[in-house]
Amino acid sequence: MFKVAVFVGSIRPTSSNRRFAEALEKLAAGRLAFDYVDLGALPFYDESLWNDPPPVVVALKQQIAAADAVLFVTPEYNRSIPGILKNAIDWPSRPYGDGVWGGKPAAIAGATSGVSGTAAAQAHLRAILPVVGMALMGTPEIYFQSRPGAIDEAGNFTDERVRATLNIWVERFEAWIARFAESGAVEAPLARKTA
Ligand code: FNR
Repeated sequence: MFKVAVFVGSIRPTSSNRRFAEALEKLAAGRLAFDYVDLGALPFYDESLWNDPPPVVVALKQQIAAADAVLFVTPEYNRSIPGILKNAIDWPSRPYGDGVWGGKPAAIAGATSGVSGTAAAQAHLRAILPVVGMALMGTPEIYFQSRPGAIDEAGNFTDERVRATLNIWVERFEAWIARFAESGAVEAPLARKTA
């Protein structure tokens, strides 16, 4: 079973993205083990803090390093990703040459009540994640409409077709992660800048 560090781009207690992530976790039980990242605990990115790195930042880098893969589940804010999520991507990418994203298998998903899904936010994520070295799965894509009743009280997806589609997504993500786990294709960190 693969361990997946999960970044949910909304920290409000009633987040529909968190609820979606938890339903996906339930569906993937026995196949993927979700390890949620506490995005709200991170300070805003400040390069000078590397002189004495905040323990939460060091812990986040260790959490990512210990995971087989990462998953981003995000709402869309003003046609992009929430700042809190960008902040959580930026911290582990540094110090230069000592980031932990290199070669990490990754996938993205998003939930919204609107019909447009989170297409614009996910497009922005697709532009960011490969830049920090993640091996991002292209398809299947997940644009989840969090309409009332889509997830029941017990945290299960109510629609049979949604369950079937997400089951295929779980299988594909497992296979994607396995490709990297088998080849050991984790990128070596870039050489540190010396001058
Ligand atoms: C939004 N929302 C939103 N929705 C969308 O589909 N496209 C968008 O560009 C935006 N923009 C936006 C900006 C800001 C600042 C907020 C707070 C919200 C609505 C958003 O998708 C909705 O609130 C989700 O329910 C937020 O996700 P969680 O918190 O339920 O996970």
